[in-house]
Amino acid sequence: MTIVINMRDRVDERGIKIAARLILEGKLVAFPTETVYGLGADALNARAVRRIFKAKGRPADNPLIIHIADFSDLSRVARDIPKEARLLAERFWPGPLTMVLPRKEDVPDVTTGGLDTVAVRMPAHPIALALIRASTPVAAPSANISGKPSPTLAEHVIDDFYGRIECIIDGGETNIGVESTVIDLSSERPTLLRPGGLPLEEIEKVIGGVEIHPAVRGKLVDVARSPGMKYKHYSPNAQVIVVEGKRENVRRKIEELVDGYRKEGLRVGVMATEQYDADEFFHLGTSEEEVARNLFKALRWLDKRGVDIIIAEGIGERGLGFAVMNRLRKAAGYRVVQA
Ligand code: TXA
Ligand code: MG
Repeated sequence: MTIVINMRDRVDERGIKIAARLILEGKLVAFPTETVYGLGADALNARAVRRIFKAKGRPADNPLIIHIADFSDLSRVARDIPKEARLLAERFWPGPLTMVLPRKEDVPDVTTGGLDTVAVRMPAHPIALALIRASTPVAAPSANISGKPSPTLAEHVIDDFYGRIECIIDGGETNIGVESTVIDLSSERPTLLRPGGLPLEEIEKVIGGVEIHPAVRGKLVDVARSPGMKYKHYSPNAQVIVVEGKRENVRRKIEELVDGYRKEGLRVGVMATEQYDADEFFHLGTSEEEVARNLFKALRWLDKRGVDIIIAEGIGERGLGFAVMNRLRKAAGYRVVQA
């Protein structure tokens, strides 16, 4: 009951037509974006959107992002669009930036989790843009079972949803690998709700200082503004432990942890930017961009290898490092070891 359409080499117009028709019929279509794969439905069709929540097992109060393909569609779903939003859209759309704005009334409550705001982004991916243009604004969370690492390959979506949604478009590996940056522009001060594929430094160059919501750092206060913050996230079955600190210390600490857990008879996986000896090892690459691209794939791969513990090397928080560390600490349930 799930059709998988291969578009790894090119955007296939016939495939887009089939997928767009499914969206317009209220069905679920998973598709690639430049960040991660999304699980899409017609954003203005409450019944279709309800099916996304059901398929993912997502709590009803965690709102979805509406994906558009043309700037003119923004005013179909949002109102009172501030100057900052125009500036950011001009500079970064299509791209990995989601803006939270006051919502229009036609947007169903299910899509916004009952909030009076709506999250909107224009993805920079030819398949996503073609699909939206051929159908309608598309509500799409990341295409993973709620709480699991986000999907960066069609294979990940197949693992989670094959047989449970109507269509999966395989566009190969996603380029950025972490989800979009979410910024709230609906209140007086622009506030970062989720670090992501667009570095905060880039945003600040355009609109100046941005407040960072305390929940971004793991403090669970005032979660009402972005309910997604309070839920378990990115967790593989294995326990994740993040090791942070100075390079030399980190190496020693990781080796010590690997030894210790192996002596207890556990299977230990390591994901890092340098080589390590362990039962399973995933090399993340060295730049922040490479680590971001590989992060979720590493978590899913190590899980499939059946490790009990995943030890992840922390990286610096510059650029995409902010998003990487935010995801890693969450995946670890904030089990962070300072080396
Ligand atoms: O890169 C991405 O953003 C991917 C791709 C598919 O576009 N999508 C994605 O969606 O990551 P999701 O549902 O996994 O994450 C959406 C985040 C959640 O943290 C949610 O709470 C927040 O955006 N959000 C959505 N609407 C909101 C709103 N009105 N106010 C505050 N936060 C909102
Ligand atoms: Mg998600």
